[in-house]
Amino acid sequence: MNVALGVSGGIAAYKAAELTRALMEYGFRVDVIMTRAAQEFIQPLTFAALTGRRVATGIFPVSGDVLESAMEHIRLAQENQLLVIAPATADVLAKLAHGMADDLLTTTYLAFTGKVIIAPAMNTNMWNHTATQANLKSLRERGHVIVEPDSGELACGMVGPGRLAEPPRIAAAVLAASASKQDLAGETVLITAGPTREPIDGVRYISNRSSGKMGYAIAEQAALRGAIVILISGPVRLETPQGVTRVDVESAVEMREAVMDHLEAATIVIKAAAVADYYVANAAATKIKKTQARLTLDLEPTPDILAELGTKKGDRLLIGFAAETDNLVNEARRKLNAKNCDMVVGNLVTPPAMNSQARGFDADENEVVLVTRMGDTIAVERAPKRVIADRILNEIPRLRLAAHAKA
Ligand code: PMT
Repeated sequence: MNVALGVSGGIAAYKAAELTRALMEYGFRVDVIMTRAAQEFIQPLTFAALTGRRVATGIFPVSGDVLESAMEHIRLAQENQLLVIAPATADVLAKLAHGMADDLLTTTYLAFTGKVIIAPAMNTNMWNHTATQANLKSLRERGHVIVEPDSGELACGMVGPGRLAEPPRIAAAVLAASASKQDLAGETVLITAGPTREPIDGVRYISNRSSGKMGYAIAEQAALRGAIVILISGPVRLETPQGVTRVDVESAVEMREAVMDHLEAATIVIKAAAVADYYVANAAATKIKKTQARLTLDLEPTPDILAELGTKKGDRLLIGFAAETDNLVNEARRKLNAKNCDMVVGNLVTPPAMNSQARGFDADENEVVLVTRMGDTIAVERAPKRVIADRILNEIPRLRLAAHAKA
């Protein structure tokens, strides 16, 4: 799929280079359009080198074919399925909102009929200004996706909203829009993510290497595809995806409680969390003092949340995970049947020393096998976790059909 990336003139223009790379990693072909102001911040050469394609910089010919240049905005509008504008300055937002077309980006916008994704960036007062907010409102009403800016310290020294969303978040929004999907609208997806911590004493715990990235990616993509998303999260260092309701828990018992509390509302449950299989039965409230004596921890099995969900699922779709170091497909299918799931995502999780491919626990990428109730075994090749998340969500309509046929 082809993306036209409009870069307008703000200090965040440099981040558009990272966004270009992220989009290309997702397999998009990227045509960059730069406003005159953007070129004051970053050179067209940077984008030409990244994309291997000519960068479009103006409506008037600098040299070469006059006719071709005059038609540039039409070509860009016709050859691309998505138009992404990042960063979008307050000025560009105003022009888009009012249909002004005095440069290549704004003429392309008017000639473009596909999906538009806009990631604004500006000073906090400019962002909060009634005029900017009115412009955003009319752009949203046109169906454009607005990737809200982050809050934080801005280049101008102010603290507040206005900082361009991080490129991976913009790329995720583009990925979701590329499938033009709001196919999860009407669904409430309950997702678990991250590790659990099982206390040993007042300061120590047993845990695992889950970062939460896989579950958070699913939450983000599900929200972008129109679902109401409730994310039950173990302790992780990740930002809550936009539009997602997050419930923080620590232990397996707390995770079970939170899942059961929210089950009623859910139409789909996805269990990506790496829940501890055991907890310390005799955990001490205060710090255990060190002695020379041997210390034995008495471990009890934790509640198997997925298995319990399997008995209570009703009409819900239930998607489990299986993290395995060997025998992946067989184990995934065994868990699918034992826990009454509609699909299990088999995740090969080789230890770090053997994991030259950087996938699974704590990696940005993953490689999984989808094992379904219908008997399919679908290998999903290595890709960023957001792409894997999207691939998992793509199975939902088929799973739903199969579940209805069975009922
Ligand atoms: O978080 P990341 O760093 O991004 O890594 C992602 C991941 C590797 C953690 C993820 O892709 C993954 O594989 N998650 C499942 C990890 C796991 O606990 O697998 P399991 O095979 O031990 O458990 C099978 C299923 O039962 C899982 O859906 C798990 O959530 C669930 N379970 C397990 C134990 C328990 N007490 N209750 C459960 O519900």
